[in-house]
Amino acid sequence: MDPVELIWRNGEFVAWEDAQTHVLSHGLHYGTGVFEGIRCYDTPRGPAVFRHQDHLDRLEKSAELYYLELPYSAEEIRRATHELLRRNELRSAYIRPLAYRGYGSLGLYAKDAPVDVIIAAFPWGAYLGEESKNGGIRAKVSSWRRISPAGSIPHAKASGSYLNSILAKTESANAGYDEAILLDERGFVCEGSGENIFVVREGEILTPPHTASILDGINRKSVIQIARDLGYTVVERDIARAELYLAEEVFLTGTAAEMVPVREIDDHEIGGPGEITRHVQAKFMDALHGRADEYLEWLDFVDVAADASADARDGAKLGAEEIASTDEEIGRITPAA
Ligand SMILES: Cc1ncc(COP(=O)(O)O)c(C=O)c1O
Repeated sequence: MDPVELIWRNGEFVAWEDAQTHVLSHGLHYGTGVFEGIRCYDTPRGPAVFRHQDHLDRLEKSAELYYLELPYSAEEIRRATHELLRRNELRSAYIRPLAYRGYGSLGLYAKDAPVDVIIAAFPWGAYLGEESKNGGIRAKVSSWRRISPAGSIPHAKASGSYLNSILAKTESANAGYDEAILLDERGFVCEGSGENIFVVREGEILTPPHTASILDGINRKSVIQIARDLGYTVVERDIARAELYLAEEVFLTGTAAEMVPVREIDDHEIGGPGEITRHVQAKFMDALHGRADEYLEWLDFVDVAADASADARDGAKLGAEEIASTDEEIGRITPAA
């Protein structure tokens, strides 16, 4: 991890090293938190957060599903995120908002434990390695099934759910693979440990539906739209495990990993990045980096010269420190991808 200067916590900016929490915080014990993984890219028109509103909507829905009342509106979190990027002089970053039950009660019915909110933003390159986006990765079908909708909520991006992802990821890494592919409780293909999955068969792009326990990935949504705009047929349907091995192409999508081809699954060779993967990937990377005019509406541009006072007036308590105000002051971080 590459520390930066400030983290936003409960309405204030605190030094990175001072962003501590009490050891009896509820979320630390039970995973009672919801979060997002978001990226800001340094586009030709300035820094822009990709599909920011969609991420904030999902954060609110995740919170609702786990009965967490967010003390800040999506707009307050959005403004605080912009201000955090400005103050940390980040033109591109991985952004991690987290809302969790804090200190106050260790009972499971913890309505009295406060909901603490933090936002961190820091440089983070491609999750599965820069090379993975060109060369592809090796994946292993996990012996761990994705959390079942009968016992938990796969649709929520909740902290506790990631114990499941961590088991799968650890198993695959220990076996020498780059990533895990989880099946759902019925045995159909679900997703990667931190990415959605797409399979190309007979020229059609297939991806598991919401009923297959997937997280409703924002990049999944984007790639479906881009692929359709490029003229491909995208079908959301159950995918049998063997279809992974029979696939012409397989790729993963996610904020951290972006779009990564899969070249091998278990002991089956899929092959290098295929034509469809490369075509969609090129447009997707253009969309992320603000090079595709037709997808500019997905970008939430950060006004690098904005004054924090408007945000402070609106209740986000953004503090009074000086903010960087020119591109030169702010432009020390190179794009993540
Ligand atoms: C389990 C899981 N599935 C899918 C995704 C992809 O979601 P998104 O494209 O919104 O980043 C992620 C990453 O957030 C994830 O953690």
